[in-house]
Amino acid sequence: MPASNSHPEMSRLRVLVIGGGGRDHALCHAFAVSPRLAELHVAPGNAGIAQFATCHPDVDLGDLDGLVAVAIQLAPDLVIIGAEDLLVAGLASRMAAAGLTCLGPSGAAAQLEGSKRFAKQLMERAHVPTPAWRSCDSVEAAHAAIEELGGAVAVKADGLAAGLGAFVCPTPALAREAVEVLMVERRFGVSGDRVLVEQLVTGEEASVMAIVDGSSVVPLPAARDYKRLGDDDAGPNTGGMGAYAPSAELDPAEAARLARAVIQPIVDQLREAGTPFHGVIYAGVMLTSDGPQVLEYNSRFGNPETQALVRVLDADLLDLLDRAAHGTLPTDVDVAATGHAVAVCVAAEHYPTLQLEPQPVRVTGLDAARAIDGVELFLGLATRVDGSTDEIDALGGRVVTVSAWAPQLELAIERAYAAATHIRVPGRQMRTDIGQAGLASAAR
Ligand code: GLY
Repeated sequence: MPASNSHPEMSRLRVLVIGGGGRDHALCHAFAVSPRLAELHVAPGNAGIAQFATCHPDVDLGDLDGLVAVAIQLAPDLVIIGAEDLLVAGLASRMAAAGLTCLGPSGAAAQLEGSKRFAKQLMERAHVPTPAWRSCDSVEAAHAAIEELGGAVAVKADGLAAGLGAFVCPTPALAREAVEVLMVERRFGVSGDRVLVEQLVTGEEASVMAIVDGSSVVPLPAARDYKRLGDDDAGPNTGGMGAYAPSAELDPAEAARLARAVIQPIVDQLREAGTPFHGVIYAGVMLTSDGPQVLEYNSRFGNPETQALVRVLDADLLDLLDRAAHGTLPTDVDVAATGHAVAVCVAAEHYPTLQLEPQPVRVTGLDAARAIDGVELFLGLATRVDGSTDEIDALGGRVVTVSAWAPQLELAIERAYAAATHIRVPGRQMRTDIGQAGLASAAR
């Protein structure tokens, strides 16, 4: 949400981050080294963030009133909201109504992620290339769309589904199964009452992100996400099991050109509609042999892309986000990358199944993992065990993201896995091929 149009050059900031997962931990890690940071508060935060920031663990992420109350009490210079469900629920709008400067789109602008149909309609108006699609409000309509689009399709819940509501279906039978899961079983509740059926396109994926101030965009280096649970893209879709940055398919200059081509027109459309977007837009792009096709937009930083991205950014991220909140981003800046980073998610046994009543799981081996050169650990929602830095009780599915930096991608991969093997969680799930696509691409 916009603040007044003045930007207090280089003033030092008291910052409140709303969140407590791996992406939020990574953002806080970047803010902690910013010369512009005066004080860092995080609500609720987690056991890792608490090592260097003031956490406010008593507030629940589902309690919007409580989050606004914490913000009013702290009166920070800048509030940054990490998660899409909070943005779509209008938390940034509420922070702005309370007189706070908040980086994050209004509930109306966050519909870019909150409704896949809304995003597709915007793409059509903005002439952004995207695969053919149909919006379906009934099982019958979805079955007809699957046939019409040739049988090889993606079936997606229209609404939010914790990153788990998209099904890649190479055959009509699999597509009909996905419709069953979303519209009949209603595994993601009302989010699946409308589905989008989209023609399947193939190629290399890229996560293209830009910081947005309502009018201008500052592109970031692209990352590559690994969405399937298993190696070689086997198994179900997840929120992302790992990432590396910068993408080997799109160097930062190419990523910047692509971001300007597929994000700027969306920003223009939203501004013209009277719902300007302040925050981060993340375009999920498929680089096909016929050129890039945008699959979806997210209204926030990617998770786990951010856990890799913050390690390579050649910029003061906090400064850019503050400028975005004030509508004063520079118009001619692309952010470069230094070195390479690989983020490997270590997940609990149940992931990616959603738990209605999440039970904590014990995670150990963090100290040995942190001791590896170039490695940072970004934790999911977790509390420390008896003050130990080695053990946590974690609540989420992706319990720890191991983020390794190195001058070369190959070394970053080596470091990430040397660290990740130390981390123990019952029924541990972890891909062993994060970053390999980058090595293969560089070798071509
Ligand atoms: N990594 C995918 C997402 O953040 O939605």
